[in-house]
Amino acid sequence: MQPFLPFATPDIGDSEISEVIDSLKNGWLTTGPKVKQLEKNFSEYLGDGVTALAVNSATSGLHLALEALGISEGDEVILPSYTFTATAEVIKYLGATPVFVDIDAFTYNISPESVLNAISPKTKAIMPVHFAGLACDMSPLFDIAKKFNLSIIEDAAHAFPASYKGKKIGTLESDATVFSFYANKTMTTAEGGMIVSSNPELIKRAKTMRLHGINRDVFDRYNSHLPSWYYEVEAPGYKYNMPDINAAIGIHQLKRIDNFLEKRNKLAQFYFDNLKNLPLTLPPTPNQNEDIHAWHLFPILLDEGIDRDKIIESLYQHNIGCSVHFIPLHLHPAWKGYCISYPKDHFKNTINTFSREISIPLYTKMDTGDAQRVVSALGDILRPYV
Ligand SMILES: Cc1ncc(COP(=O)(O)O)c(C=O)c1O
Repeated sequence: MQPFLPFATPDIGDSEISEVIDSLKNGWLTTGPKVKQLEKNFSEYLGDGVTALAVNSATSGLHLALEALGISEGDEVILPSYTFTATAEVIKYLGATPVFVDIDAFTYNISPESVLNAISPKTKAIMPVHFAGLACDMSPLFDIAKKFNLSIIEDAAHAFPASYKGKKIGTLESDATVFSFYANKTMTTAEGGMIVSSNPELIKRAKTMRLHGINRDVFDRYNSHLPSWYYEVEAPGYKYNMPDINAAIGIHQLKRIDNFLEKRNKLAQFYFDNLKNLPLTLPPTPNQNEDIHAWHLFPILLDEGIDRDKIIESLYQHNIGCSVHFIPLHLHPAWKGYCISYPKDHFKNTINTFSREISIPLYTKMDTGDAQRVVSALGDILRPYV
């Protein structure tokens, strides 16, 4: 039996390790020069004059972005049920109400038509999620937002780097975009995230609330050679800053991101070439062929009638890890209650996708030999269904 092929592992190089050691030795562990460097490099990578603000997770970034936009009790925010609980919980943190909608059957991303049907006088914002790293169809969402005066906060946890109609995700006309640097993401800082926006007011508020609502930068405060003990707390804020130790990893991950993307593209292409004759649907690809898919995940949908859970068990018997994205939020005890009044087919595409979905391994530490193992195992397991 070959060794276990995990579902995902991070790709940490010697330069990341040296930079972390430098942080440990230089006396500045928490938010400081390396965070500033990462923010600068990240905004330069995206271009278009956006500002990047590092945080300790995408969850805290989404929370800060919604807070900065003034989302509060009595407001409604529209999001897909087909996402991770973080997208919904940040709405609740602020006392607002999540309004769950269906996805598009072909892209697995939020359906603009469902968004339109969910708008009420209380709606304040839409949170599209770029599932697996494929950009949502943003143009109709921007049209809806303009018509109803809504904010858009993109949950781009899966989508670095990705693009839509030739523009990088993070540089579109949304109010804010939030990326995740969690350990299994396309680049990592162990835990971490980045808020990106071209709205200086939003960035200013999020920056203040990121660190207790304090109106001064801690690094500036401690490094000043003039008396600099004074600060004011403008609002009860949060403790969401990214430590330098994490940014140290991120600085080098970002340098490698184009290379990472090339590897992910190659593996995705290998799967497209070698899984096409099996009883499954391959993942959707960007509409404009030139657009970038981040390939954070490679979600396959088994043909109807095939027992998904049994196939997952068989993959594990072949010593291959895999996962399911996502258990729709409206099926979880925490979120069910928000959806009880919906008609039976409200989440038709979400349920159909979820019940057939398996995310197979795709990450930069894999080579085509590993991908071939996945292909061969799926070939064996699915042979009776062909
Ligand atoms: C769609 C989505 N949004 C948000 C998050 C939260 O990211 P983080 O773990 O960085 O808070 C995740 C995490 O996997 C996610 O998949």
